[in-house]
Amino acid sequence: MVDLISVMEGISASFCERVQEDPRFSAVFGGTPSESEYVDWFLVDTFYDVLGTPGYCAAGGQRLKESGELTPAHRLISETLFEKATEEQTESGQGHELWALHDIAAVKGWELDQAASWVRQHTPSPGSLSYNDFFKFITTANPIGILGLAFTREYMANELATQAAKNLRERSDIPNIAKATVFLGGHGEADADHVKELYPILDAIEDQADKEVVIMAARVSVESYLAKAVTRHK
Ligand SMILES: [Fe+2]
Ligand SMILES: [Fe+2]
Repeated sequence: MVDLISVMEGISASFCERVQEDPRFSAVFGGTPSESEYVDWFLVDTFYDVLGTPGYCAAGGQRLKESGELTPAHRLISETLFEKATEEQTESGQGHELWALHDIAAVKGWELDQAASWVRQHTPSPGSLSYNDFFKFITTANPIGILGLAFTREYMANELATQAAKNLRERSDIPNIAKATVFLGGHGEADADHVKELYPILDAIEDQADKEVVIMAARVSVESYLAKAVTRHK
C-alpha cells in the first residue's frame, strides 16, 4: 500500500533541493540574477506557467463531477479543484500571471498593459510548454492528477519563495526590485495554506490507480519545472 503523502513529500523535498542546486534557479532564488535572467527568463516563463491554472482546475473539477458515480474521495477532489480555480486568481479575477506582469512592469518602469504585450511577444521555454501541455492532457484524461501538479509546485513555493523574495530585495541591484517581488512574495505567503489544504485530500485517496496518477503528475511537474532552466527561450 503506497503511503501517498510520504511519496509526495519525498518528491517535493528533492524538487526543492534540485531547484537550489541548479545554477539558474539558484541565482534567482538566491537574489543574484541578472536583470535578463529575472525578467526575460524567470518572470516571462512563470507568467506562462500559471496562465492556464484557474481554467484547467475548473475544467478538471467539472469533468470529475460529470464522470458518473463519484466516490467520496472523487467528490472531495472535484470540490478542491473548484476551490483551487478561485484560489489561483487575484481579486480582479485574473490568474496569478498578473503578479508576474506586475513585477515585469515594475522593473521596466512600464504600465501593466505594456508588460502584457511585451510578454506575449515571448515564447515560453520547452519546460513551460510541456507543463501546459501536460496540464491540459491530465485535465481531460484524469483530473485527479492535477493534485500532483499543485502539491509539488505549492510545496516548493512554500519552502523557497518567501526567502527568495527577501534575497532579491536585499541583494539584487535590478531597478525597482523592491517593488518587483510580488509573484514570489505572494506565493510564499499563500502557498503555506494551499499546501496544508491538500493533505486531507491526498489522505482521502485510497484507490491505487488514483495514487499512481497523482505521483506520475508530480514527477512531470518537477521535471518540467527544472527543464525551464535547460533550454532558454530567445
Ligand atoms: Fe498561484
Ligand atoms: Fe497556490
